Amino acid sequence: MPYINLVKKTKKKIFITGAAGFIGSNVLEYLFKKYKNFYFTVLDALTYAGNLKNFIPEMMNDRRFRFVYGDVTNSTMVDNLIADSDIVIHFAAETHVTRSIHDNRRFFETDVLGTQSVANAVYHHKRKVERFIHISTCEVYGRGLTRKMGESHPLNPHSPYAAAKVGADRLVYSYCVTYDIPAIILRPFNIYGPRQHLEKAIPRFITSALLNEPLTVHGTGRNKRDYMHVSDVSRAIELLIHAPIKKVKGQVFNIGSGKASSIYSIAKAVAKHMKIPLSRIIFVKDRPGQVSSFSCDYSKIKKLLGREPKKDLKSGLLETIQWYRDNQEVWHPQTWLRRVPIILPDGSIEYH
Ligand SMILES: NC(=O)c1ccc[n+]([C@@H]2O[C@H](COP(=O)([O-])OP(=O)(O)OC[C@H]3O[C@@H](n4cnc5c(N)ncnc54)[C@H](O)[C@@H]3O)[C@@H](O)[C@H]2O)c1
Repeated sequence: MPYINLVKKTKKKIFITGAAGFIGSNVLEYLFKKYKNFYFTVLDALTYAGNLKNFIPEMMNDRRFRFVYGDVTNSTMVDNLIADSDIVIHFAAETHVTRSIHDNRRFFETDVLGTQSVANAVYHHKRKVERFIHISTCEVYGRGLTRKMGESHPLNPHSPYAAAKVGADRLVYSYCVTYDIPAIILRPFNIYGPRQHLEKAIPRFITSALLNEPLTVHGTGRNKRDYMHVSDVSRAIELLIHAPIKKVKGQVFNIGSGKASSIYSIAKAVAKHMKIPLSRIIFVKDRPGQVSSFSCDYSKIKKLLGREPKKDLKSGLLETIQWYRDNQEVWHPQTWLRRVPIILPDGSIEYH
């Protein structure tokens, strides 16, 4: 990474939204440990998905870290915080596809209007903010029209969550075109690793195994996802912090493993690594709007910045299983949130 040594010595103020959640807290910890001249301000509303335990104790007691409790849709607060920031990384969102099928108003408020307040503040403080990394998602693509999805794949969101994220993604793009803000849009595919909320598939399988419960798979389990370990998101964001701004400004980048695995094969791998019988895997009704396959074409970021994922699925899964074994006190209070109601097309409610 040729640019890194340059920036490592420079004092930078980083503003991160949503870093009490899964990906944000991992990226924050990675940057905090590696860049001693970086100062971090985190804004998080501590929704059911945010957890102060996601901040490591050495960070809580360090003057390089500041936590602000607040909502990203509060544009005055966001503007004040961004006024003093060099780099903005925006993770805060409502993130659960299934939950958005039941009750989605908050998704549009946080994901779209929250992004609007961040983008407005970046525009307002354009002279100070050198780059704004907006975290979008592969869900914006919907059903794959090609085997792998590149950045120019059409955006056909299948769920209200995905639609809200399209709104945010295109809002940021429009601010690049209209107001020339220094934004970069990152579209991670499916991410897993320590601290992920139990409502998501991999932690749900792992914790079901630990709790001696069945591992429930939606539909036939043949739906495929492109799973990448969260440490590879941290490394990709690090690259984007260091890349010459001219190369990345206004650009969209996919990141993922490039490999699609069926949900059933993931459940089987978890069962195998945790030494439980496959008969513990059971099938439940499919979720409406399900996307059959996500597979990432990450050639754009590879060509431009030489980025490739490092951690393979087996070692990533083993490490993640170990984390859930060792940190029951962190995740156990979330167990009641694993069952999520959804509204079916006929208006009836079902628990997933
Ligand atoms: N997890 C994945 O597989 C994945 C994949 C692609 C993209 N993403 C995107 O990455 C980002 C982070 O995802 P995650 O899985 O870490 O999410 P998460 O649900 O674990 O965390 C979201 C965080 O945002 C905070 N938050 C929610 N609403 C807020 C508000 N109104 N104001 C301030 N803070 C608020 C929550 O308290 C929480 O700390 C999201 O933008 C998501 O769309 C996630």
